Amino acid sequence: MNALRKHRISMKTFSAISNRPVKHLYSAVVVVCFLMASMTFLAADAKGQLSEEAIRELVSEMTLAEKVGQMTQLTIQPLSEVKGFPGTAFKVDSSLLREAIVDRHVGSLLNVYDMAMTTAQWEKLINEIQDLAINETKHGIPVIYGIDAVHGNNYHVEATLFPQNLGLAATWNADLVGAVSRQTAEETRSLGIPWNFAPVLDVGRQPLWSRFFETFGEDVHMATVLGRASITSQQHVTPDGFATVAATGKHFLGYSLPLSGKDRTPAWIPERMLREYILPPFKDAIDQGLLTMMVNSGEINGEPVHASHRILTELLKEELGFKGIIVTDWEDIAKLHASHRVAESFKEAVRQVVEAGVDMAMVPYDYTFTDALIELVQEGVIPESRIDESVERILWVKSKVGLFANARPKPDANIWTNGKALSLEAAHESITLLKNENGILPLTGTEAILLGGPGADSKTFTHGSWSYTWQGIERDAYPESIATFKDKMEAGFSAVAYLPWDEHQDPDKVRALSHRAEVVVLALGEVPSVEKPGDIESLELAADQVEMARTVVESGARLVVVLFQNRPRIIRQIEPLADAIILAYQPGPEGAGAVVDVLQGSVNPSGHLPFTYPRFSGSIVPYDYKWSENADILFGQDAINPQYPFGWGLSYTDFEYSNLKVDSKAFTATGKLMVSVDIANTGDRDGMDVIQLYSRDEYASITPSNKRLRAFRKVSLKAGEKSTQRFELSKADLSFIGRENVSVFEPGAFTIMVDDQSTTVDLR
Ligand code: BGC
Repeated sequence: MNALRKHRISMKTFSAISNRPVKHLYSAVVVVCFLMASMTFLAADAKGQLSEEAIRELVSEMTLAEKVGQMTQLTIQPLSEVKGFPGTAFKVDSSLLREAIVDRHVGSLLNVYDMAMTTAQWEKLINEIQDLAINETKHGIPVIYGIDAVHGNNYHVEATLFPQNLGLAATWNADLVGAVSRQTAEETRSLGIPWNFAPVLDVGRQPLWSRFFETFGEDVHMATVLGRASITSQQHVTPDGFATVAATGKHFLGYSLPLSGKDRTPAWIPERMLREYILPPFKDAIDQGLLTMMVNSGEINGEPVHASHRILTELLKEELGFKGIIVTDWEDIAKLHASHRVAESFKEAVRQVVEAGVDMAMVPYDYTFTDALIELVQEGVIPESRIDESVERILWVKSKVGLFANARPKPDANIWTNGKALSLEAAHESITLLKNENGILPLTGTEAILLGGPGADSKTFTHGSWSYTWQGIERDAYPESIATFKDKMEAGFSAVAYLPWDEHQDPDKVRALSHRAEVVVLALGEVPSVEKPGDIESLELAADQVEMARTVVESGARLVVVLFQNRPRIIRQIEPLADAIILAYQPGPEGAGAVVDVLQGSVNPSGHLPFTYPRFSGSIVPYDYKWSENADILFGQDAINPQYPFGWGLSYTDFEYSNLKVDSKAFTATGKLMVSVDIANTGDRDGMDVIQLYSRDEYASITPSNKRLRAFRKVSLKAGEKSTQRFELSKADLSFIGRENVSVFEPGAFTIMVDDQSTTVDLR
């Protein structure tokens, strides 16, 4: 009966049927007849894509409950029997799963139960889910499963983890970000998971925020370029014609700028600022075909984004033309009632989000959303056509990722080792040498070294959150095979003594041990955390760590500091004490070894800061500050005094820039401005540098920034090698959001800058 119904609907729904194992001869006959009858059309969907027309037809055949089920996303936890903590086997509760998929028509599931799983566990879980969805529901629509593979497929025990986004941004290497994202997507998809809630496209301009490490740093151009690399690589079209996974732009919009710095607290962002600094990475992602968008849990200007028709429908769907799924963030409908207090009841909150434009609710524990939405439609509060619009979007994304052609895992035993070298390469390129005095680095290898600090023997410090578990702090969840910094230091250097970390370290012991060492390497930073658990009161580095650095230096030893941290912790007090400082971010499983390679000199560091490293907690000023922020200039003082500026990063070789030229003193006929600059490696080692091209609009009707990053490129030069690098800028690159909140180009003087070179052109 069902197969016949489908036959009648459209040949396009064949793909849904074809996903099922044909169990009965009857079905087989129907499918064959169907195939023959549809031969002339098959070319269009032989690959299992549903056309818009087929999607509309399918939706028209669905009941209200089936449609609202598609809009419901549950986490796997309430459907599980056994929590997956280390040492136990995760087990889904089959009857609860059946209830969700068959009886309640749930269209999407997410996450794991507190523990990364094995390939066999994922295979079993996804197959069980898709067996129910494809074989036992009327329309056979597969479930779309999503996870947070934010720095690698972290919910698999053998997954390749990479540096966190902030470290990836420090590579200033979009190709590398692309390669990392593609590996992540392929690993994720091999398990039958076609949806990754990444990348974070929020700009990191509030370093207190607990998700700073998930951003690509403070600059909007950089977040746009690296976000694009991530999205296009994750959604890379396979030979079958489908996106490898659906990427998610998150979190739309303005999540990263809470005024207090605390997660999910109010942001006040004027429209001009939103459009100038926050919106561009999301807009670009949509232009690249981004398939899904997750909503900011917080509020902007007093309006929770989940309830904002203006932001979700007028801006995102209508103005930006977003065609994919808008999914809520975790439990955010309930929060409109319980925490934001804009809805007097949960049901009213459901009305608000659906009317605002949300397509799918990450509920995620129960059917409260499902029931409330069905009621709202039955009561005539929400028109069924509004539901249809969301379901069409959901089915369109399911089709784009090929779920109708293949919803099953395709495990590949080799895939887990493919990314290891890439992870090491990314860690190498991320490591940022902030200070290196008196030629202390690279070390000779024969020094007597004392190693200490809370990050020295810690897998969690080097990984950060979203590593095997949400917070990433459960040591037992990490594979045995991952080396700590201590392991790598002991393997890489001949004379390493280790001082285990203790918050109440005996200073005499530290002094005595340091006295015996020539160099003390301290691995400092912070225990990983994310979201609410990551809220902090101050950016200061913990006092016990500062104290330890002081004690070490009192003993006369030379100090090398290695920082593993979520965000820039203030190091003003220890910076003058250290001969060298390495910022390692949270570099992932190969990161400890990568730092040792830099300390030894087998790798020449090439990371550059993707944010301004503040010197004081109370002085958070991004590199693209306005002139008035440096008002003390009137009194002869420079008020802009970061610990290290945006773009900073040392190398073991020297680079010199010369000959910066704007080759055309006006825009060419094609609207381009041609810029060239020479770069030379004048040192005696091969190395990589990042060409950072900035512009300054000298005078404008909206106060101009002192400079803005417009282009960047990482180049590799052998010792003594020289190269000419060319860039093209367009009017759009030199425009800004003007008085009417739209992009404008104002003619006048522009200064173009690369390193110590600059030239001013009058552009008309
Ligand atoms: C986070 C999202 C994440 C989601 C699913 C939320 O708490 O804010 O970024 O994708 O959980 O795990």
